[in-house]
Amino acid sequence: MMRDQKEQRVHDQLVARLEEARARTLLLVEPLSEEDLHVQHDPLMSPIIWDLGHIAHFEELWLVRNLEGPVEFGEMPGIFNPFENPRRVRGTLQLPTLDECKTLMAEIRSRVLERMSHVRFDTDAELLRNGYVYEMVLQHEYQHNETILQTLQLKQGTPYRAPRLYAVPSRGAAIDRGGMVRFGGGRVQIGTDDRGVGYDNERPRHEIEMSPFVIDVGPVTNADYLEFMRAGGYERQELWSADGWSWRTESQVNSPKYWLRDGDDWCVRVMDRVSSVERDHPVCHVCYHEAEAYARFVGKRLPTEFEWEVAAGWNPSTARVQTFPWGDEPAAPERANVDQLAFSTAPLGAYGKNWSPLGCYGMVGDVWEWTSSDFQPYPGYHTFPYPEYSEVFFGSEYKVLRGASWATRPGVVRNSFRNWDYPIRRQIFAGFRCARDD
Ligand code: AVJ
Ligand code: FE
Repeated sequence: MMRDQKEQRVHDQLVARLEEARARTLLLVEPLSEEDLHVQHDPLMSPIIWDLGHIAHFEELWLVRNLEGPVEFGEMPGIFNPFENPRRVRGTLQLPTLDECKTLMAEIRSRVLERMSHVRFDTDAELLRNGYVYEMVLQHEYQHNETILQTLQLKQGTPYRAPRLYAVPSRGAAIDRGGMVRFGGGRVQIGTDDRGVGYDNERPRHEIEMSPFVIDVGPVTNADYLEFMRAGGYERQELWSADGWSWRTESQVNSPKYWLRDGDDWCVRVMDRVSSVERDHPVCHVCYHEAEAYARFVGKRLPTEFEWEVAAGWNPSTARVQTFPWGDEPAAPERANVDQLAFSTAPLGAYGKNWSPLGCYGMVGDVWEWTSSDFQPYPGYHTFPYPEYSEVFFGSEYKVLRGASWATRPGVVRNSFRNWDYPIRRQIFAGFRCARDD
């Protein structure tokens, strides 16, 4: 078989990226004992060893078996099939030891590389063209890395010794706190037709008519959120939706998750570090209901996911939404607070390149942002390559989150990316910004 130079380059880059992804996964779990890996730290999350086995089997399914003939997601081996074993039961499964898991991962990887050495990327087959299926498997591992970090933040017993390999800037440039920017409305193209990295739920690019709106320059900060708390926001039913108020009364929550009282003030814990709540960082670990109540408190509302996308990428000079807030260069820690190893949010304004053309700061990085949109397919949506990624989750139970957090790997950061979760969830690294009709 002859591969041309371009194909060989695609191949070599993918091999390097698969290795890099695995090195990160193993770095994250390196400080953990066998017990840490097997305990179910929270009913919401899998034992971390499950994530490791699931990452490996997902890779085997798509990069080995699928290349021999079409596969169904249900062919994933039983214990690692998320639909056969929902998260809350995963603590009771007979899961492999770390050594067994590492052997499994390495054994699958060597079969993947062998198969890959004679795969054609220059093909009409949608799954293989330009290596898409490899990109999909990489993104799957990246996303499970963030899931693992959610679990580690929930960890029982001794806190996780976070491998803090670098620090976020300690100060940000002054930004117009409380400032809002305006979009004058009109016809806008939302989503993408990209088939190189995009997930099915981001397609197709489609035109919508958008009314004028204004949106916050920056995400809501801890200082902002403390004002809401000190004004009795958690006690004022009129600020909450009916569902939000039931959640509030049942949960008895009165601060973001992981905040601890410190006399009259508050501290926050990130893994093994407790520090005072930094006033100029975005608020993190609030659920949709809290975000919505805050927005009502300040006389605003949450943006729709389309307003969010316009705020993140609308470029008036091209009349298009660009791929990243700053343009076309990929996400990296020099442009935004992403990629995990700082283990922290950063002060607003800390990343001088993290501005969108309309003038919004920090649309990606630091915290995911809740939007008011339900997770629904775009008009003309077509499942690809399997319904269990997006299709089975479409509906009104889930809210869309946009952007990316400090715990997100750059390979899953882009303006069109759609994340989703239940409106009561707070273990995700999520905050929000507000908007208003104009
Ligand atoms: C996109 C984060 C909601 O964790 O359920 C991982 C990502 N999909 N394995 C999830 C995912 C399949 C997904 N989220
Ligand atoms: Fe998965």
